[in-house]
Amino acid sequence: MPFSLLLLAALSSLLPSSCVSSLDDQGRTLLAWKESLSGAAALATWSPAAPSPCQWVGVFCDTGNRVVEIRLISVDLQGPLPSNFQALSSLRALTISFTNISGEIPVEFGDYAGLELVDLSNNHLSGEIPPEICKLSKLQTLRPERHIAGRDREL
Ligand SMILES: *[C@@H]1O[C@H](CO)[C@@H](O)[C@H](O)[C@H]1NC(C)=O
Repeated sequence: MPFSLLLLAALSSLLPSSCVSSLDDQGRTLLAWKESLSGAAALATWSPAAPSPCQWVGVFCDTGNRVVEIRLISVDLQGPLPSNFQALSSLRALTISFTNISGEIPVEFGDYAGLELVDLSNNHLSGEIPPEICKLSKLQTLRPERHIAGRDREL
């Protein structure tokens, strides 16, 4: 076997499996959240077979295939809010409403720096709005769970 072929064979055996997957980092981020949900049937189109999540239900991208909006309304998700969306660095709007999501708003929401709109209304959230949300300098609209804040809050 020529040396270059040997080298190629040696290199490919070193590649981690994540390099073999064609799904981009944004897609892997979304799938990781999907795995935490028990009502994931609503997200059947969220599949690792798609190289980009831009065709998935509720996912909206810009012309550069960067995820800019996630809008999930009236689908039965049953699980926690995402705490791993830092990799969605272009995300500007996050609407997760009427989805049977429960638990607290993760402190990691404070790291989703590009967010301008967050609508988490009509779920089963508990606890307080974490102060980390104040780090979101572009945030204009925050609609938390009604029984947390009592009413919509314009920042
Ligand atoms: C939320 O869960 C309840 C009880 O399982 C169900 O009846 C309802 O349809 C779910 N909401 C949505 C938006 O699917």
